[in-house]
Amino acid sequence: MREDASPLVGRMREFGETIFAEMSALAVRTGAINLGQGFPDTDGPPEIAEAAIAAIRAGHNQYPPGIGIPTLRTAIAAHQQRFYGIEVDPDTEVLVTAGATEGLAAAILALCEIGDEVVCFEPYYDAYAADVALAGATRRVVTLRPPTWAYDPAELEAAIGPRTRLLLLNSPHNPTGKVFGPDELAHIARLAVEHDLLVVTDEVYEHLVFDGRHVPLASLPGLWDRTLTISSAGKTFSFTGWKIGWVVGPAPLVAAVRTVKQFLTYVNGAPFQHAIAEGLGLPDERYAALADDLRAKRDLLCAGLDAAGFAVFRPAGTYFVNVDVRPLGTADGHRFCLELPDRCGVVAVPDVVFYDHPEEGRHLVRFTFCKRREVLEEAVRRLAALRG
Ligand SMILES: Cc1ncc(COP(=O)(O)O)c(C=O)c1O
Repeated sequence: MREDASPLVGRMREFGETIFAEMSALAVRTGAINLGQGFPDTDGPPEIAEAAIAAIRAGHNQYPPGIGIPTLRTAIAAHQQRFYGIEVDPDTEVLVTAGATEGLAAAILALCEIGDEVVCFEPYYDAYAADVALAGATRRVVTLRPPTWAYDPAELEAAIGPRTRLLLLNSPHNPTGKVFGPDELAHIARLAVEHDLLVVTDEVYEHLVFDGRHVPLASLPGLWDRTLTISSAGKTFSFTGWKIGWVVGPAPLVAAVRTVKQFLTYVNGAPFQHAIAEGLGLPDERYAALADDLRAKRDLLCAGLDAAGFAVFRPAGTYFVNVDVRPLGTADGHRFCLELPDRCGVVAVPDVVFYDHPEEGRHLVRFTFCKRREVLEEAVRRLAALRG
């Protein structure tokens, strides 16, 4: 067979695809409970689903405006004001994207030149490496270390050099579940200003916070003008398949991202945009109820993992929990995950896939808890078998 793929494709194949595919295939082959992939097994609020159906029936089925429909952009601006006190112009400072995935890719492509450096934390969401590679830029990673997933401030300072263009921050953070605290945000903000960096923040888990509070980096002094804030309705409302995301920031930066988006997807998800516009207007209690449900699931799975003998790093946000497998007699998280379905009928993901420095994450494994309660209870029962 001919192999016409470019060298770039070769590099992108390295970014996690293999292990994720391997774990999903394993889940299918063994019929194990899949706590590897992070998507909910139930739908979000029914009125949002109904709003999408109503939008289709009402004929919202052709190309929407490139920047997103006005009602959704207004709802996104109102959301930033309501939850964070950030004033946003819905006409120039908001762009609707095909999920956060497109927002991230378009932002990095729009802001980075070939040879620029992008500083981010590891472990990191796999799209970051691919997006930076697509832009011809280079990533410099700073390690978050358990149990608190703190970073060494000196390491971050050392990672920033003359070629650094962009700082990429994900909080609440996948895969660790860390919510960056006020001192860390202040430190990152100070460095961004001192070195005159652009910043992209990935805040898709902004409403899935159980301990502490999510603060958008863009709300810190001196940050608005240099920061693109990216989020998505997929995680907040459990409609990951709809791919409605957004980018918020100063007009010139948003305009740059829009230019790239025009040639990636042009527009996206007309009826879903109408539905998410309604969803964003749900009262605070509904947002809190989604987080409360996940908090209880976090507690259930963490207790089960703890009882099974893992060292558990309890997450403050997101729907992922990470464990150290060494107390179970191995330091190889990848091999552990390959054996787990046969040992007890559960699938998890080895964290090593999220690292540039594999030695930092070799012994770590990620589980998700965005599944129905009975599924998690069964997983916990199965995991108990590991204790022998
Ligand atoms: C940190 C992070 N960013 C972005 C995304 C993608 O978001 P979307 O589905 O809105 O494209 C995910 C999905 O898993 C994620 O975990």
